[in-house]
Formats: sequence, structure tokens, C-alpha cells
Amino acid sequence: MVSAMPRGIGCIVDRLPCSFELDTLSPVLGAFSSKSERTLSDLAGQFLDAAAYERALAEGDRLVYVVYQSTGSGQAGDLDYGLTVLWPGKIGNEYWMTKGHYHHVLETSEVYYCLQGTGYMVMEDISGHWAVEKLASARGLYVAPGWAHRMVNVGNVPLAALYVCPSHAGHDYHTIETRGFRKLIVEQGGAPAIIDNPRWQGCRR
Ligand code: F6R
Ligand code: ZN
Repeated sequence: MVSAMPRGIGCIVDRLPCSFELDTLSPVLGAFSSKSERTLSDLAGQFLDAAAYERALAEGDRLVYVVYQSTGSGQAGDLDYGLTVLWPGKIGNEYWMTKGHYHHVLETSEVYYCLQGTGYMVMEDISGHWAVEKLASARGLYVAPGWAHRMVNVGNVPLAALYVCPSHAGHDYHTIETRGFRKLIVEQGGAPAIIDNPRWQGCRR
């Protein structure tokens, strides 16, 4: 595309029109404005088997996932987008996952497009409805307004997904940190299974 504007990282930071490379093999986003890394210690209190979590942490605070972010202005009408790469692993029999969150502006939605790997998006709303949708290469996913969402990697390779959401959506981590998700994804008999979270604190918010 022809443009009078300088291309590259500046166009993302300044919110100018631009395109970007998606290396689906690595997978890596070609240009991004920031990168956050989450390690095991960032997931404290989230895994069901607390003893297995402490044992894993004692062996090292391993990298669980990376988010390459193109973060917008924070205004309605603008979009944030980026790439989440979640490594495979388990704590006890529970698969590695993202922290998960509601959007701070609850009535905002999000679209994901999976580039690599195998997993699930675990979702729930504040009334206690839940949904678990499969993530696999070339599979898209819509997180409806008001639904908390968490990626879970049940495969042997990094699970990578592009996301796009309203820039003013924000993150509410606190609700999930305190109440947990209603459903967990664990390995049972060699295959992923959806189980009830016995520590789920209900649908109050
Ligand atoms: C943005 C969004 C994703 C996640 C990312 C990491 O609204 O849903 O970019 O932020 O997949 O997950 P969390 O934020 O739950 O650690
Ligand atoms: Zn989100």
C-alpha cells in the first residue's frame, strides 16, 4: 500500500494506518507497542492443586505466556489488537492457562483468531452462564459482551491467537482472582475434560 506516512512501529504508537506481519510459524507479531510476559507467579491462587503449584514454582518461575500488544488510545472507537502466545504445561492435571478477565467496560466484546496450537477459551458471565469453545489453527472466536475469558493450552506446542477488542474495554482481573472460573480444563484419562471448579465463588460480583 502507498502511504505518505512513515511505516513500522511508529504508525501503531501514533495510531496511523498500517499493516503488520504475522509470523504464524514462530508465532510472532511483526510490530507491537508493548509486550507483557506472565510467569507462574502471576497465576498465584488460580490452579486447583495448590501443592503442585508450589512445587512447580519452587523449581523456577517459568514463563507461561507472552502478549504482544498494539494498545490504542483507550477511547471508544479505537481498537486494541495483539497476539497472545501461551506455552504448553500442566500444574497437577490442570493445563496452563491465562489469568483471564472480565472487561472493565463490561458491555465490550472481543474477537480471537487462532494461529497455532490446540486449546479452549473458557468463558462465563456474571449470572453464572458458562461456555467453553475450542481453539485450533484457523479457528475464530467471538467473546460476547459481558463474558469473562481465559485461554487454556491442551496441546504440546504454543497456543497462539490474535485478538482485537475495543480500546476502552480495559481489564478487570480482580473478579476472577477472587472468584475463579466456574469451569476448569484438566487432563482425565489422557484427554482434556471440563470439570466444575470446587472453589468457584458464585456469580456475585
Ligand atoms: C484483551 C485480551 C487479551 C488477553 C491476553 C492475556 O482484552 O483478552 O489480550 O489480555 O490473552 O490474558 P490475560 O489478560 O487474562 O492475562
Ligand atoms: Zn479481553
